[in-house]
Amino acid sequence: MGFKIVKKRELIPNRVSELTIYAPDIASKARPGNFVILRIFPKGERIPLTIADKSPAEGTITIVYLVVGKTTAHLETFQVGDEILDVCGPLGKPTRIEKKGEVVCVGGGTGIAAMHHIAKGHAQVGNKVISVIGARSKDLLLFEEELSKFSHKVLVATDDGSKGKKGLVTQVLEDYLKSHEVKEVVAVGPVPMMKAVSELTKKYSVPTTVSLNSIMVDGIGMCGACRVSVGGRIRFACVEGPEFDAHEVDFDELMLRLRSYVKQEQISYNHFCE
Ligand code: FAD
Ligand code: NAD
Ligand code: FES
Repeated sequence: MGFKIVKKRELIPNRVSELTIYAPDIASKARPGNFVILRIFPKGERIPLTIADKSPAEGTITIVYLVVGKTTAHLETFQVGDEILDVCGPLGKPTRIEKKGEVVCVGGGTGIAAMHHIAKGHAQVGNKVISVIGARSKDLLLFEEELSKFSHKVLVATDDGSKGKKGLVTQVLEDYLKSHEVKEVVAVGPVPMMKAVSELTKKYSVPTTVSLNSIMVDGIGMCGACRVSVGGRIRFACVEGPEFDAHEVDFDELMLRLRSYVKQEQISYNHFCE
């Protein structure tokens, strides 16, 4: 028996969807920062997706995905009532959350949904959460309302200026860091964004955590696919992360590794579309 989809919301048509999946064992154990690995058919690829939210009372977890290639395009064809073959989790180390004061949570694009669970965790222990979210335009902004339920403020940036400040999340973040005493910054989103946030917070000496989206296969530390360099050491993001000290991460290597299979991914996607 698979894992039943109990709710589906198309957040951005043909681009980003949210699925609520009945998975009581995962929902009861999931903590902010954890992810799951899905396989949607017997010979299917295993893909990691962050647990964006959970409801232990209803036995459900929520995932939000950007349709980028074959498996996410296939997942997008699933509807309420359909079952996902395997959902493995919760995986990864949960976020280290302790009461410390003001925490700025930065999310870019689909990364906003993944950041949501972490930000909620910080708010639940009494930290003052400032959410900084960015997208190319206002139609691509996610979770603004959900974040506003527990954030002290939600600051918005759009590349085209259609909502909030015109520009990147880093511009909003820098304005904020100039005039506030921030204890920690957490960033989830495209790797160039996490790299830019890290360079900025280094300048302001603010401890920063990023959630790395390296390629993963087994998710339990056996295959080595997810290796990343942090502080000059090789670390396995699936079991030692996915969150790491941003100031120690080799983002350029991560970007190169993420492009390793672009040709094969394109062939696979074209084959799926035929
Ligand atoms: P493909 O065409 O196969 O790949 C598109 C790109 O996605 C690739 O170029 C590569 O950079 C990346 N990718 C491909 N396969 C994998 C893989 N097995 N593991 C990781 N990256 C891969 N995306 C979301 O939209 N929402 C999330 O909440 C989310 N959370 C993530 C959490 C973690 C811990 C990690 C590691 C990744 C997360 N991702 C998330 C990225 C997501 O896993 C990839 O977008 C997905 O695997 C793409 O699969 P595809 O077949 O559709 O695309
Ligand atoms: P996108 O490319 O549209 O970027 C969203 C926003 O991020 C931009 O509007 C901007 O504010 C900011 N940004 C992007 N590049 C930047 C840079 N160089 N400097 C400063 N700010 C920058 O985002 P998308 O197309 O929605 O892609 C989301 C990405 O997040 C995907 O690559 C996905 O794999 C990743 N993701 C990661 C995780 C994770 O766990 N790490 C979870 C979900 C999604
Ligand atoms: Fe295989 Fe991390 S995904 S070791």
